[in-house]
Amino acid sequence: MEAAGEEEISVEEEAVDKNVFKNCSKIAFYRRQKQLSKNSTYRALLDSVTTVKDSTRFQIINEATKVPLLAEINGIERNIFRLKINEETPLKPRYEVPDVLISKPKTVRLISCSGDKGSLILEDGKGDLKCHITENPFKIDLVSEKEVVMSINSQGKLFFEHLQIPPKQRTTKENEESASINTSQENQEDLGLWEEKFGSFVDVKANGPTSIGLDFSLHGFEHLYGIPQHAESHQLKNTGDGDAYRLYNLDVYGYKIHDKMGIYGSVPYLLAHKLGRTIGIFWLNASETLVEINTQPSVEYTWTQVGPAAAKQKVISQTDVCWISESGIIDVFLLTGPTPSDVFKQYSYLTGTQAMPPLFSLGYHQCRWNYEDEQDVKAVDAGFDEHDIPYDVIWLDIEHTEGKRYFTWDKKRFANPKRMQELLRSKKRKLVVISDPHIKIDPDYSVYTKAKEQGFFVRNREGSDFEGVCWPGLSSYLDFTNSKVREWYSGLFAFPVYQGSTDILFIWNDMNEPSVFRGPELTLQKNAIHHGNWEHRELHNIYGFYQQMATAEGLIQRSKGKERPFVLSRSFFAGSQKYGAVWTGDNTAEWSYLKISIPMLLTLSITGISFCGADVGGFIGNPDAELLVRWYQAGAYQPFFRGHANMNTKRREPWLFGEEYTKLIREAIRERYTLLPYLYSLFYHAHVASEPVMRPLWIEFPDELETFGVEDEYMLGSALLVHPVTEPKTTMVDVFLPRSNEIWYHSKTFAHWKGGCTVKIPVALDTIPVFQRGGSVVPIKTTIGKSTGWMTNSSFGLRVAVSTEGSAVGELYLDDGHSFQYLHQNQFLHRKFSFCSSVLINSCADERGRYLSKCVVEQILFLGLKKKPSSVTTHSSDGKDQPVAFMYCDKTSTLNLEKLSLNIGCDWEVHIK
Ligand code: NOJ
Repeated sequence: MEAAGEEEISVEEEAVDKNVFKNCSKIAFYRRQKQLSKNSTYRALLDSVTTVKDSTRFQIINEATKVPLLAEINGIERNIFRLKINEETPLKPRYEVPDVLISKPKTVRLISCSGDKGSLILEDGKGDLKCHITENPFKIDLVSEKEVVMSINSQGKLFFEHLQIPPKQRTTKENEESASINTSQENQEDLGLWEEKFGSFVDVKANGPTSIGLDFSLHGFEHLYGIPQHAESHQLKNTGDGDAYRLYNLDVYGYKIHDKMGIYGSVPYLLAHKLGRTIGIFWLNASETLVEINTQPSVEYTWTQVGPAAAKQKVISQTDVCWISESGIIDVFLLTGPTPSDVFKQYSYLTGTQAMPPLFSLGYHQCRWNYEDEQDVKAVDAGFDEHDIPYDVIWLDIEHTEGKRYFTWDKKRFANPKRMQELLRSKKRKLVVISDPHIKIDPDYSVYTKAKEQGFFVRNREGSDFEGVCWPGLSSYLDFTNSKVREWYSGLFAFPVYQGSTDILFIWNDMNEPSVFRGPELTLQKNAIHHGNWEHRELHNIYGFYQQMATAEGLIQRSKGKERPFVLSRSFFAGSQKYGAVWTGDNTAEWSYLKISIPMLLTLSITGISFCGADVGGFIGNPDAELLVRWYQAGAYQPFFRGHANMNTKRREPWLFGEEYTKLIREAIRERYTLLPYLYSLFYHAHVASEPVMRPLWIEFPDELETFGVEDEYMLGSALLVHPVTEPKTTMVDVFLPRSNEIWYHSKTFAHWKGGCTVKIPVALDTIPVFQRGGSVVPIKTTIGKSTGWMTNSSFGLRVAVSTEGSAVGELYLDDGHSFQYLHQNQFLHRKFSFCSSVLINSCADERGRYLSKCVVEQILFLGLKKKPSSVTTHSSDGKDQPVAFMYCDKTSTLNLEKLSLNIGCDWEVHIK
């Protein structure tokens, strides 16, 4: 484990030690539910139904304990249902997750129609969605157009541990009652009701057992995705006994891959997909959660007994999902789709969309633990220019501070941080520095003393400030769940307060699971106390979310509301997309980690977090040149693109591996910069229309069964299919190109293939297998600058890939790249490109936009034009026609127009005859 010095901790753990972390068998609430849920049945009391405002409420009784629960069903706009189950009269309030839903969801009235005896039917106004509630045993079926999409509690796994008086405070009568409640009390300890041991740690539970659980059977579904973060495949796997997906934010250095243990962040939201329908289940709970998944594929029986003509009967597939949380209430949103894009919109309606990133943050980021001093920063920065490699941001890790006191600078290494930032500013580049949630206990550190004075730290159960060990040595942890703490913390980013900071400095929140080196599972003990007297166990998974929220707010405030923030966070929860980017933490410089980064990022992407990436090169260990190149090539086509390395690794700036490799890395990074107009437009779509930037194939091709399990390639937007090379010494990759009625173009050779098949693509070390989909127009930059800032006025190009029908469409979104004026003053430009009947039209996609750009489209490349044109003319909105010089290549069927000067923001046409 960590080498804990008296004062400072400087080296992280060597490798993941499985004994430090629990597996399911070590989790008491999981064991309890496994043992006890079999004996518990629940009955709904449908005579108790009331409708208050739009919500339908009724009691549910546990047949054994007779403790009443209150169920509440709401129809919500956009075809969402919400089911809440809480104790009717808890001894004290149970935790309900605040601050995740962006507003109170608008309810729609459900009409209740009585079903058969012992059941109740609730219909939404339109009549195509119904909730069919069965009284005994309690069950809900969600029905859409006569098809039962999902059943709730059909496996009878509803579980709800009601709050109890602690044994020591009970009267004899209460003791007798609770003895009957807790069935087998002999193995109290094993059940971990009031106390749970893990190694040398003892979790004393003031509220006793409070866990909840519920099952969902998804009819006809075999493909499930979501519930990050795990270093696992994109498609969720069946969980065997004791092998549930765990959602518990933990600092797992060098996490093991193909493992269901919880790592840095949690989004308790899964999607299920089948031909014709996609649905989502969002389980709004921030305590430790386990998810069990069990798929039974469809089977066909043949009944031979029924006579000579054998009868066939098909039993459709079904996936049972069981959510089990340590505490809180049951609050679950059922997103009924029916398309993937409907589900994305339903989810973002609840939790918000991806924040629109500042353009620079889509460029390349250069990070290392640590860039040593100002001179080092200067040299690395200059190295990029010398080697003609664009980059936008250099990062400083924990060593930039005075003894890991965030918001300070090490006086020797960074004597003049403003001077350093001015140098970067002159290069139109930015700086990101780290700010962790632990605060060094030091009476001379003003951040500490001020927080202490105001009672802003998490407390331990005895009531004093919690003290745990992290990088600075003994530290206390800011209680970001308190809005006052968040406000105060946001204020620390104000320029006059944060000495040495300027407006080109942005923030990285790390270790915010939170990581506590000597704590249970390297995190905060569950009985630490937060604002409002809530135990940490109730809200563990949302701690990091709150830090990123406060940081993003701080950056907005320091600019007086004008500038978009950039904040990278290691920990996250549902809704973190509103505050910035996340990454996949401490991965390893091995091929298998490069490979798993794809499904890990796809999973984040479909659960709302579009702005995500993995450390390029692998954080731990030393990648060889080939792996590093392949990682750059993959990262160039992923949303957040940052090279990062642990402190005890060899330096690995792109030019340190010899000219051959420098060239390859340069090319990959330049590819990224070429594509920025397209990528930025995709982010705009993620921001306004909830569409993920990086997409698993099944989202773009929901009607193609073959795509449902694909995770070695993905779509970037709807136009580019990327199949990164993730094996050493690869000379050939098998690329699956979907849909037989579509056509795909190799982005470099322009060779094309009909879709619906797997093609063998020869690859050399300079090949990034990327394919443009026929029917798409991809906007690019034709000149690359030193950073995005140098490219504001550089020209655009369009890559028009013609479909089998001879058409193509695409878009470009543009704004100043950094402010909120796109939102408040309509300072944006949104153009639409459509190619049809040999005419390419640039028209306005959103009339509200009033951003003026001097940029021109300088080059247009048409892919898939079978015949050499006799003439090409441009036609401007003022009626002028102009002939254009063109080059046609028979061999590749490409038409290239160069040296054009068509203003990007004006209407114009290009006619090909
Ligand atoms: C852990 C983070 O995951 C890593 O990226 C960082 O370099 C170290 N902490 C040091 O801050």
